[in-house]
Amino acid sequence: MSYLGDVKAAPEQDRVRVFDTTLRDGEQSPGISLNTAEKVEIAQQLARLGVDVIEAGFPITSPGDFEAVQAIARQVEGPVIAGLARTHKADIDAAWNAVKDAPRPRIHTFISTSDIHIEHQLKTTHEDVKGQAKAAVAMARAYTDDVEFSPMDATRADVEFTAEVCAIAVAEGATTINIPDTVGYTTPEEYAAHLTRLYQLVPGLDGITLSVHCHDDLGLAVSNSYAGLQAGARQVECAINGIGERAGNCSLEEIVMLLRTRRDVHGLDTTVDTRELARTSRMVSRLTGYSVPPNKAVVGRNAFAHESGIHQDGVLKERSTYEIMDATEVGLDSNAIVLGKHSGRHALKDALEQLGFHVDGQELRQAFKRFKEIADKKKQVTALDLEAIVSDEMRERSESYNLAWFEVEAGTRRDPLATVCVTLPSGEESQAEATGDGPVDAIFGAIREAVGTDADLRRYEVEAVTEGTDALGEVTVVLRANDRLASGQGVATDILEASARAYVRALSNALEGAAIREAEEATADAAAERTPGP
Ligand code: KIV
Ligand code: ZN
Repeated sequence: MSYLGDVKAAPEQDRVRVFDTTLRDGEQSPGISLNTAEKVEIAQQLARLGVDVIEAGFPITSPGDFEAVQAIARQVEGPVIAGLARTHKADIDAAWNAVKDAPRPRIHTFISTSDIHIEHQLKTTHEDVKGQAKAAVAMARAYTDDVEFSPMDATRADVEFTAEVCAIAVAEGATTINIPDTVGYTTPEEYAAHLTRLYQLVPGLDGITLSVHCHDDLGLAVSNSYAGLQAGARQVECAINGIGERAGNCSLEEIVMLLRTRRDVHGLDTTVDTRELARTSRMVSRLTGYSVPPNKAVVGRNAFAHESGIHQDGVLKERSTYEIMDATEVGLDSNAIVLGKHSGRHALKDALEQLGFHVDGQELRQAFKRFKEIADKKKQVTALDLEAIVSDEMRERSESYNLAWFEVEAGTRRDPLATVCVTLPSGEESQAEATGDGPVDAIFGAIREAVGTDADLRRYEVEAVTEGTDALGEVTVVLRANDRLASGQGVATDILEASARAYVRALSNALEGAAIREAEEATADAAAERTPGP
């Protein structure tokens, strides 16, 4: 049961806009290396989830970022697509060029207002900050009438100075003012007081949208964002699974469910389709390599599990005894059996459509082949299995390294020996063998030989996609190669195969990243940069 019953849309003044920054602030988490196709896939899922704004990236920072923001602007329908920019002309031009093909583009520009940043990082004066903010908003407004301005590190800045800068931005036509708690330092009471004071000092704020952007360094990102919304803000900046710089951003699923579940006390709500939350969380976790802890609020696999006998007894008698939300409300019930061993291609296509994957032609043939392999080994193929297989198939890209096959001989009386064959980006196959401390180590060694590179394993995790001994295994590998942290995932009924797939993908991401980085460094040298990024 849910306490909510049928939820009516909140009146306009109580509607909170959800600004998702998974692909910008979230992507700044160490070890995340999403390529354009993966970013578009996440953005499409965010659109299905119903967020209002997608901050798709920071286009000036690299050709790769620019390309991804542009692809999202061109392909993803529904939400406003925002690009981040410092106050420099080159940043604003790049942000505009990247988002301009979106039906509803936004430029989000920022500059710090705290003394710490102004003195030590920007090495400039308060007057200059005001001038830069004014020029940046004016430049952005010349391109679009949807402009957001953020006074970075606002919560450690003098509120009167921040107010002066915000007033300038509003006068120049900013339509959203976002108040970042950049280093996760504030507390709910302090943040609410800060926003209330800004409302008093900047009369123009009444006519536009005030936004909250909180980091989780003290574990308060959701609480602070909530306090900001209660103080009058109507946009919340957040990321799926709370990923982001350092300890991360406000978790989208937590703030959205907090607003929905306790609407009785605050009256606020979003228009997010909460049944898509769990799937979005799994997709982001798979693609970023950042796993979701089992006890994570709302989307953790134990978020609705009851262990103690008293709780189980209560829930069996009446669910509301120990549950405040319903698993179906957040989409955590998607483990219903959807296909059996004899299901055909048509049934697979239908099931995938229901899950939001539109596959045809070669992609469908490939997904069907994979489904049959798995259906032969597993009695029942669930929605979670299908989602895992299709996501895994989408990771196979002709321009990267791909696992062709592997063999491993192992046992307690001999050193394991692995032979692997990897398809190179040129299409050629490279075969190699290696021994190791165990079969996984031997496979990883043979892959390094086949690809001709060194790598340092940082994280290796195995998770079962569903329950039971025939469950699909999902492996996440994080490694450092070519001076870059990168992650990869693999799914198979066999853990060794899933490990090999994950390792090849992580290596591909690291090596691809190195090539992209060389191009980026050349561009960065050319751009005269005065302010470091957020
Ligand atoms: O944390 C921060 O200050 C930011 C800004 C760019 C909004 O991410
Ligand atoms: Zn941030």
